[in-house]
Amino acid sequence: MILDLEARGVLDRLATRTSCREFDGTPLSRDTIRAVMRDAIEAPSSCNHQSWHFIVVTDRDKLARAQRISGGNLHFGTCGALIYLCFLNGWSHRHFSIVQSVAAAGYHMILSAHLRGISSIYNAGIGPSDEVRELLDLPAGYTVQGAIALGYTAPGTRLTKPPRRPLDDVLSFERFERPEAADWPQAPSDAYPYGDAESQLTPYAEWDPTRWTWDQIGDLRGYAVWAKSPIAGVYVSARQGTVMEGVLDLMPDLPAGAEVIDVMGWGGTEAARLLTRLPKGARLTLADLHDGNLTFMRQRLAAEPACTGRTLQSLRMRGPDLPRPDASADLVTLPLALEHAPDPAALLASIARVLRPGGHLLLAYRNAASPYGPYWEREEKPHQVSNQGPFRPLDPDAVTAMAGQHFDIVAEAGFGREATHDTEKLEGRELRRGRIHALLLQKP
Ligand SMILES: Cc1cc2nc3c(=O)[nH]c(=O)nc-3n(C[C@H](O)[C@H](O)[C@H](O)COP(=O)(O)O)c2cc1C
Repeated sequence: MILDLEARGVLDRLATRTSCREFDGTPLSRDTIRAVMRDAIEAPSSCNHQSWHFIVVTDRDKLARAQRISGGNLHFGTCGALIYLCFLNGWSHRHFSIVQSVAAAGYHMILSAHLRGISSIYNAGIGPSDEVRELLDLPAGYTVQGAIALGYTAPGTRLTKPPRRPLDDVLSFERFERPEAADWPQAPSDAYPYGDAESQLTPYAEWDPTRWTWDQIGDLRGYAVWAKSPIAGVYVSARQGTVMEGVLDLMPDLPAGAEVIDVMGWGGTEAARLLTRLPKGARLTLADLHDGNLTFMRQRLAAEPACTGRTLQSLRMRGPDLPRPDASADLVTLPLALEHAPDPAALLASIARVLRPGGHLLLAYRNAASPYGPYWEREEKPHQVSNQGPFRPLDPDAVTAMAGQHFDIVAEAGFGREATHDTEKLEGRELRRGRIHALLLQKP
């Protein structure tokens, strides 16, 4: 099928759209918003009911409140307009048709904005419904399903589009067919009715990484955006930051030309800190299960001041294997990653192989023998698997026994007395009861 040049040009421009999370704060005029919305309501709707309703928020105080309610969506505070997508309950026919209809209008809105040079982002993370309802004076009969932030990109921001799967991962003709790696496992169940998977609560999430293949874990890591942001301004919680600094305090002294490998790093969050601790001539290699995640981490780290003048290497893991010569690394870091591994013992063996004798492994993991263990079981596990992938907190006795097959323990640390939030550094016998347990291990 041949498209005329004008149509091809429009489609090419639409394909350059990417979500923006860094706005410059310029308000959008009502005329501009009305023009975008006039396009949006050209979208199809189930039975043509058009029982959608759009509430535009531009008031700065209200936007600040919207941002607080949302929790992590900091861009609500700086966008030019936030448009809540609402619909009238009770006319949804089958298969959530009203939700499908509002989403169609939402995307049409995004495309119209894009063609007008206005950036955007679709957001499901709007915060608790009752608080949003109060913010908007929304009647009980309406539901708000999300919000689209529009505005102008802040100067100096480089927007990066996260990778798309190959078309044949998501497309089949006449019948269902999908590559195994792209077909994430679900918890065993006789049936999987979507209606039971309410909001984030889902009985079908398979949290046990040993029931995933390495390729499936890699697939998730390759496409799911980390801490939501694909690049600049990646959201890092203070807790995450403080604990990571504490873990890195265990690092041994390294020779000037040290070879360091960061294995299955947390979207670069921890590697960004690691870089500030490395001697000048040290070489950092990022190892991961998917090229998409390696590209993302490299782009992200390139924007870190600590990366200036350094060349980062990438290493594409093949399952637990690190395709590197034996005894070629001085330090391996494994930050909150062992609990994500389909086969933790195989990963530790592979790390032991690439470390030189006397080399170190710095390992941190979520501790099942802390108050976090039961909290994870009760509060986190009933929800969908997060963007970081499936994991299970590990038991310190099991980890030390597994690590003891290859390494000596040089130092350890524990962080977080409570199930969540606090970052207290624990001492003595309490150290293995902290939410995060860290070990500095040495290969004999
Ligand atoms: C229904 C929906 C909900 C989303 N919710 C959020 C959100 O709450 N916060 C956020 O930062 N991004 C959110 N996104 C943006 C996605 O992360 C983004 O579209 C995806 O990573 C692909 O990137 P791209 O839009 O730049 O192509 C959402 C996108 C969609 C379609």
